[in-house]
Amino acid sequence: MITRAPATVAAASDAPFVWGVSTSSYQIEGAAAEDGKGPSIWDTYCRQPGRITDNDTGDVACDHYHRYAEDVALMKALGVGAYRFSVAWPRVQPKGRGAVNEAGLAFYDRLIDALLEARIEPWLCLYHWDLPQALGDLGGWANRDCAFWFADYAALIARRYGDRVKRFATFNESSVFTLFGFVMGGQAPGIADRTMFHRAIHHVNLAHGGAIDVLRSLVKDASLGIVHNIQPSRAATPAAEDVKAAALFDAYWNGAFADPQLLGHYPALIADLMEPWIAAGDIARICRPIDWFGLNHYSPLYMRAFDDNPIGVGWGAAPDSVPRTSFGWPIEPDAFRDTLLHVSKRYGLPVYVLENGRSNPDVVDEKGAVNDPDRIEFLKSYIGAMNQARAAGADVRGYFVWSLLDNFEWSSGFSQRFGIVYVDYATGQRIPKASYHWYADLIRATAPRP
Ligand code: NOJ
Repeated sequence: MITRAPATVAAASDAPFVWGVSTSSYQIEGAAAEDGKGPSIWDTYCRQPGRITDNDTGDVACDHYHRYAEDVALMKALGVGAYRFSVAWPRVQPKGRGAVNEAGLAFYDRLIDALLEARIEPWLCLYHWDLPQALGDLGGWANRDCAFWFADYAALIARRYGDRVKRFATFNESSVFTLFGFVMGGQAPGIADRTMFHRAIHHVNLAHGGAIDVLRSLVKDASLGIVHNIQPSRAATPAAEDVKAAALFDAYWNGAFADPQLLGHYPALIADLMEPWIAAGDIARICRPIDWFGLNHYSPLYMRAFDDNPIGVGWGAAPDSVPRTSFGWPIEPDAFRDTLLHVSKRYGLPVYVLENGRSNPDVVDEKGAVNDPDRIEFLKSYIGAMNQARAAGADVRGYFVWSLLDNFEWSSGFSQRFGIVYVDYATGQRIPKASYHWYADLIRATAPRP
């Protein structure tokens, strides 16, 4: 086993700055039923006709399970100092509790060892949405016991990889998978029930706090964090009901997890709604010290009142003057700058940007190349905004592009390409895009490898 630590990457400023890329298990691995992996709620959800664009599934995805060595080589050539990936819980513990799957654990051994060999620091996220279906059958996050099963899973991961992995995140984008999975639609498990939603919020928070304690006690030199998507929630129109809806959405989207975890209370607008699920001692269990704040950010949100879901908030449109990506997401780097300043001040933790990027209708040209000038422009403007935030005092320590590879974009299937490496899904072939070469140059210029 390889125990050598990766080299520290020094940035131009005094503080070490980390350049990286991010992915997640279900979106890239494939091998959905291989080597003893159990089904996840996403395996189930994708099989329900009409849920996913073109009825795509993550069964094969980028076939990273078999091609991980090639993907690590791509990262090494890119020059990144860090790689954030997630472990598929049902790959290592097929039913989410009880028996472990040695073949699944061995896959992440191989991946981690290859990363260390390439001097890329592994950043391991415990949960990027692929809950074991067996736990989904028991109510998933709406079941309070799920928090305790998660702590056991965290212990399994800490014991197995804690000798080589030091950076752990508990959850990725908790507000997204709970809001979309339990009230707004569009994600597994595909439920619309406000009570289950509120329960799920609280149980994910409990699971976070429990896992932090487990990781802290089992990996003494670990650096622990969580990944939140923080995006300004703006009213799509000045109408009073839309202003009210945007404020409520802000409480759910930006505050329902970060505030109890880091400030020790739920946002005022939802505190009464959460009250019935909070047992004595819960807030202390949730609010555990962590070492950094992982931020995902793509755009601000434009919200409006909407009768058709259990929270009464729906998607509005950005003003016509705002440019958009091919996904329709507003491109507003100033909102990124402001979010970085806000997060840094509100939570007082070092911030790592663990996702930022855009989707693009990329194609391979007649010379076999993929040119994506729009993505390069996007990255330039967002990294520029990040630098403005740093200059204004935000403690930002790293930036990870979403994503290394084109991959399975949840309910949009393979229709949205976010990678700086193009993936031909029919053959598995990888083609670094122009943005990959641009990012490699940027990393070389600002953080030369020793
Ligand atoms: C957020 C999620 O963490 C990731 O899974 C997703 O693909 C990207 N953003 C783009 O939507």
